Amino acid sequence: MSTSFTLHATDGRARTGVISTPRGDIRTPAFMPVGTAGTVKAMLPGSVRATGADILLGNTYHLMLRPTAERVHRLGGLHKFMNWDRPILTDSGGFQVMSLADLRKLTEHGVTFKSHIDGSKHEITPERSMEIQRLLGSDIVMCFDECPALPATDEAVADSMRLSMRWAERSKLAFGDRPGHMLFGIQQGGVTEELRAESARALTGIGFDGYAIGGLAVGEGQEAMFGVLDYAPEMLPADKPRYLMGVGKPDDIVGAVKRGVDMMDCVLPSRSGRTGQAFTRHGVVNIKNARHQDDPRPLDEACTCPACRDYSRAYLHHVFRSHEMISGMLLTWHNLHYFQEIMQGIRDAIAAGTFADWEAAFHAGRAAGDI
Ligand code: GUN
Ligand code: ZN
Repeated sequence: MSTSFTLHATDGRARTGVISTPRGDIRTPAFMPVGTAGTVKAMLPGSVRATGADILLGNTYHLMLRPTAERVHRLGGLHKFMNWDRPILTDSGGFQVMSLADLRKLTEHGVTFKSHIDGSKHEITPERSMEIQRLLGSDIVMCFDECPALPATDEAVADSMRLSMRWAERSKLAFGDRPGHMLFGIQQGGVTEELRAESARALTGIGFDGYAIGGLAVGEGQEAMFGVLDYAPEMLPADKPRYLMGVGKPDDIVGAVKRGVDMMDCVLPSRSGRTGQAFTRHGVVNIKNARHQDDPRPLDEACTCPACRDYSRAYLHHVFRSHEMISGMLLTWHNLHYFQEIMQGIRDAIAAGTFADWEAAFHAGRAAGDI
């Protein structure tokens, strides 16, 4: 009933391996679809699995407000509740409080806020976040942290990072000893190398089952993010999984893996699917564009997902314009399928020692014009 992380191959700084949990293996590099409120929107769990996902992400913040962690626990836990029996990673709540909740108040103890749903008052502390994630039955639990809004002064980023490190220590204590479950620390420190190093030292001193890189993809841009990823992953233990939170676009994912990241999550493929944006080997297709209305071709002739296998661009355009529910279903399936195909291509290339060639072909395909 224990967990492990085994590296199978490396190619440059890119790594491939497997995280083993009692609920199944997670092949890395892994992309985790976001199932914020107990559902990957517009997808059945079996369909999410069919795209190739090994693990989903759920959110402490949303689930504690509705239907509440206690209710999910009484009903047998999040896996049973949402009918997904494979691993689930849950974010710890602080990041979502800062972006979604009203009247937030941050102290050493934790954060109090008003629900964005009904205005009710709540508190999350490191201890409460660990309890909620335990009640949900999360397989990979995230430390409770604070992610400062950028741009911020070095002093503000340092103070926030040090608070997150004190919360990481409290998270570890409150998490306790739970065989079969993993606790990940979250590195902060903005775009400042010395603060990232201090954060990495604090986390490795406490000791975690995996290490996340937080505080990125918050508006700093790809160049600045890659700048941090040029040093941040190497500061974290090589024998533990490294998780880049909230990333990203296909080229962000490829660039992160190249720099030593093993796991990622993002709402992009699912959210874009519902707003008519499809990611393909050749770039982004906006299905609402009138140029698709008479087009009998599939979205991507080489894609084997149901949207591409069974439907034309003209149909996908029509159902999007008509606000039909199948539009979000088909485009979400396609996007998740495409993201997982990228991950499989990456894993195979790292195993074969051909990641640089794979990366060059990936970028060449996207420059190929007419889509
Ligand atoms: N999601 C994206 N970035 C972050 C972060 O810095 N912390 C947490 N907890 N979640 C995130
Ligand atoms: Zn497709």
